[in-house]
Amino acid sequence: MTENAKPEIQIGTVESDPSIYIEVTRDGPYIVHGVPPLHVEVITPNSTGHSWTYTEGQAFAVKNGTALCRCGHSRNKPYCDGSHLKAGVNLTETAPFTPMLDGAQEIDGPVVSLTDNEAYCAFARFCDNGNRIWNEVQMPGEQHVKLAVYMAHHCPSGRLIVWDNATRQPIETPQPATLSLLEDPVEQCSGPLALDGGIRVQSASGESYEIRNRQTLCRCGASSNKPFCDGSHASIKFQDGLER
Ligand code: FES
Repeated sequence: MTENAKPEIQIGTVESDPSIYIEVTRDGPYIVHGVPPLHVEVITPNSTGHSWTYTEGQAFAVKNGTALCRCGHSRNKPYCDGSHLKAGVNLTETAPFTPMLDGAQEIDGPVVSLTDNEAYCAFARFCDNGNRIWNEVQMPGEQHVKLAVYMAHHCPSGRLIVWDNATRQPIETPQPATLSLLEDPVEQCSGPLALDGGIRVQSASGESYEIRNRQTLCRCGASSNKPFCDGSHASIKFQDGLER
């Protein structure tokens, strides 16, 4: 796709109001266009300590044009305070513009199937909560299908998609356009900026990435798949200082 061409929309995704989108700036912050809600979402474990649900936390004000930190060094997170100018973090975008499913593996089951593109993993671990989604899709029985769909829908990055074998369509639920600051108290770190609801992400080049229902953008500065999160925040124990 070239600049100004219509961006790809992943199958199963409903695009948000086009006035809402995220602009990645060259070596700088994310600029929020439109006024989507922004709040903390805490990855909340079950009694066995596995990721199970999200708990909504503090809300933050957003205006059209709000700049959000993506280098990890702002002292006013989640907002940009200009620290990227001195931080020396390489913020070059390296993710491909090609559809995410192009690089996905497929795991077939009797009723549903799974596609998995590990490069987009945000390490939220809903896929491995005592049961593993890769096994669940291969097992017969309604409870396994339900659990696999539940796990995939909680995967914030959209790495995992469950498909209905009968219709060959992804099982996705349209979401309102929302920005979330993920916090992971079990791993004692902060995570990416999660985008729900088909929000367009525009590269600093002007080209847009494929629009997807669930996406996660790096805000620690350490991802090898920028602007998307690749789970590196857990290795570096990224801390944004927000309440979890
Ligand atoms: S926030 Fe996940 S790699 Fe940076």
